[in-house]
Amino acid sequence: MEKKYILAIDQGTTSSRAIIFDKKGNKIAVAQKEFPQYFPKSGWVEHDANEIWQSVQSVLADLFIHSGAQPSEIAAIGITNQRETTVVWNKNTGLPISHALVWQSRQSADICDQLIADGYENFFHKKTGLVIDAYFSATKIRWILDNVPTAQEMAEAGDLLFGTIDTWLLWKLTNGESFATDVTNASRTMLYNIVEEKWDEEILHLLNIPVSMLPEVRKNSEIYGYTKDFHFFGESVPIANLMGDQQAALVGQQCFEEGMIKNTYGTGAFIIMNTGENPHFSENKLLTTIAYKLDDKVTYALEGSIFIAGSVVQWLRDGVKILTHADQSEEMAYKSDTDDDIYLVPAFTGLGAPYWNQNARGAIFGLTRATNDNDLVKAALQAICYQTKDILDTMTNDTGISIPSLRVDGGATANSYLMQFQADVLNVPIRRPENAETTAFGTALLAGLAIGFWKNKTEVERMDGKLYQPNMDKERREKLYQGWVRAVTATQTFSK
Ligand code: G3P
Repeated sequence: MEKKYILAIDQGTTSSRAIIFDKKGNKIAVAQKEFPQYFPKSGWVEHDANEIWQSVQSVLADLFIHSGAQPSEIAAIGITNQRETTVVWNKNTGLPISHALVWQSRQSADICDQLIADGYENFFHKKTGLVIDAYFSATKIRWILDNVPTAQEMAEAGDLLFGTIDTWLLWKLTNGESFATDVTNASRTMLYNIVEEKWDEEILHLLNIPVSMLPEVRKNSEIYGYTKDFHFFGESVPIANLMGDQQAALVGQQCFEEGMIKNTYGTGAFIIMNTGENPHFSENKLLTTIAYKLDDKVTYALEGSIFIAGSVVQWLRDGVKILTHADQSEEMAYKSDTDDDIYLVPAFTGLGAPYWNQNARGAIFGLTRATNDNDLVKAALQAICYQTKDILDTMTNDTGISIPSLRVDGGATANSYLMQFQADVLNVPIRRPENAETTAFGTALLAGLAIGFWKNKTEVERMDGKLYQPNMDKERREKLYQGWVRAVTATQTFSK
C-alpha cells in the first residue's frame, strides 16, 4: 500500500485524539474520546494510565473504521502529549503502581515547600530552567515512591519505570520494546539538566530517585520504535516523533524564528516564545524549557503556563452548571451588559506563572444583586485573557523583545468573544490559523520529516486564517487590567 498519511496521537488532559494528515498537511480524519478524571482530595487530579491507553486504542479504532484509511497507508506516527503527568509502572507486570499524577495535581506541594525552605530554588532553576512546583514530575515521582507501599524498594531493585505520557504510550505501542522520551518532555520533569542535556545526577541524588527508572532521552524527529503486536497495525509502523503538546503547537504554528510566540488555549493556556539557541533564564519566574531538538541542535523557549483556561468553562458547565454546552459561553458573554467590573480568578489549583502560588484558590470579585449567569461567563473568559497578558508583559520585561503579534490555537480559539477581548487587552493583533489542529500537526510534521515524507519543516505552509485586530482605547484597557491585578492580589492575600 502507498504510504499516504501521517498519524498523530494527541493525548491531552481531558481527551485522547487521533488525527490523520495527508501530504499537503490537510486533516483527513479525526477521532476523539474523553476519559475519566479523578479528584480524590482538594487540589489533587489523577488519571488511570490504563484508561488513557484504552482511550488511545479506542480512538485509533474509530479513526480507521470511520475514515476508510488503512493502517498500512500510515507512513509514521507522531505522539504528542499532556506534559509532566507522571506514570510509574512495574516493568514486569506492565501495570501502573498508582494512578497517574496529573500536571495540575498538588499532592506533592509539601515536598516542594520543603525544597524551597531548604534553599534549593536556584539549584533547580539553573539546572532545569524551572521553578520548584508540584506542576513538574520530579516531586510527583517522589510522592509515589513515598506513598505506595514498597515502591522505593521496587524502584531500587530496578522493577519500576517512570514515564510521562509519551513514554507510557511508546512503551505500550511497542509492547515494552522502547523506553524513551524526547527532550521536550524531559525538560518538564525537573530532573533534566537542560544545559548539559542529561538527567541530572545531583537532583536524582537529592530526591533519591534511581536513574534506572528513567527513560532514554532522545531528540525530536527520529524513529523511537515500531508498533508491535498491536492489532490495528498489521505491520510495523515507525513512531517517529515524541513531543510535549505545547512544544508541538509551537512547531505546528511554525514559530521557528527567535522571538516568535504562540498561545494554546486548552485545559490550561500555554504561552511559548522561541528564544533560539541559548537558554534565556527568566528573572521573573517564567520557565526556560526546550522547544525542540532537530539535527542535534537544541532550540530553547521561554514559557508561561496558566493552569486553568478552557477548564474554567468546563467548571461553569459541570461544576456550577450555568452552561449546558461550552459553546454557549460565546453568546452569553456577548449578552452580558455589565461594565466588565466582575473579576473571576480561577486559581482552582493554585496560580502558575508569573505568581507560582501553590496555595491560592479561586475567587470572584465585584458581585452585585444584578449579577447574572452571563456576567459570570464573561468574567471567566476575560480571566483567560488577563492571565495571558500577565505572561506576555513578563516576557517582554524579561527578554526586552516586544511582541508584535500572537499566534493562537486550541479549542477555545473558536470563541470570537474570547479572541477579540484578548486582542483588546493585549493591544496586539492575534492570528488564528485556518486549521486549528496545530498541536497534532506539529508532531505529525516532525514524524513526517524523520522518514522523508516531507523534505523540510516549512514545506507545508499553514498560516492563512483569521486575524483579530485590537480595538479598545488605552484608558479603558488600563483600567480593566488594573482591576484584574487588584483581584489576583486579593485572591492571594485571602489564600495565605
Ligand atoms: O503542561 C501541561 C500541558 O502540556 C497540558 O496540555 O492541552 O492537555 O491542557 P493540555
